[in-house]
Amino acid sequence: MVRKLDSSSSLMATGVTVVFGGFKALTDVTMTITPGAVHGLIGPNGAGKTTLVNTLTGFQAPTTGKVSLGGRHVGTLPPHDLRRAGVARTFQAGRLFTGLDVLDNLAVTGVGLGRSRSASEAEAMRLLDWIGIAHLAALPAAGLPYTDERRVGIARALMFAPQYLLLDEPAAGMSEAEASDLADLIRRVADELGIGVLLIEHNVGLVLSVSHHVYVLDAGQIIEEGDVDVILSSQAVRDAYLGADKEAA
Ligand SMILES: Nc1ncnc2c1ncn2[C@@H]1O[C@H](COP(=O)(O)OP(=O)(O)OP(=O)(O)O)[C@@H](O)[C@H]1O
Ligand SMILES: [Mg+2]
Repeated sequence: MVRKLDSSSSLMATGVTVVFGGFKALTDVTMTITPGAVHGLIGPNGAGKTTLVNTLTGFQAPTTGKVSLGGRHVGTLPPHDLRRAGVARTFQAGRLFTGLDVLDNLAVTGVGLGRSRSASEAEAMRLLDWIGIAHLAALPAAGLPYTDERRVGIARALMFAPQYLLLDEPAAGMSEAEASDLADLIRRVADELGIGVLLIEHNVGLVLSVSHHVYVLDAGQIIEEGDVDVILSSQAVRDAYLGADKEAA
């Protein structure tokens, strides 16, 4: 069910434009992420999806426009301050610490959040267990299969209960069966933990299957947003993004 949009408890981008040199990667983008719901973000390569996630997580300051969290302006906060404030993310390429085992990959984040080593290890174990990958705890992060690497990345992002989780292409390289398991995990993150999720994916079927609300970005602009029915019946989306798939089907 879609929750009522409420700026007092939302992560929001309002009129965000990001310019690199003379190139506008994002133009006047407005997006609201609410707790307990999954929001999809789809769009072709280079549409600006990662730039938007970077902007919502403090890795990229907006050129104009604002980012707010619970009504407070956070557009100029650095990433670790936003993480402490409850905005967590994963990266397009895993970015685990390859010299550490899985448990320590999570524990390091806990310590970075100011928690003790023992509390961080306990939280790490609890999360690995909740996700169903406790058996990976002592394995080196280097050399994990894709699917495990992604799940460990999500577990790490969930350390100490963030309010928001932004996932940048978590299903890349997965089979349909693996992507379906991931979809179950994403639903649980929203339903059981009450976290607001933003899911970026090229696997449009996955996005449509889990999202309460979907945004479509094309050449830096939101060209459509709404529930799955709105997206599927949108001529703009068909023209800009789904057209090629549809013709091929
Ligand atoms: N730091 C940067 N400097 C200059 N241009 C950049 C920078 N970061 C991104 N861009 C450009 O901005 C545009 C949007 O890039 P972005 O990575 O956000 O797209 P994306 O939708 O995530 O693409 P993909 O689906 O391939 O991951 C691209 O044209 C990219 O080359
Ligand atoms: Mg990207």
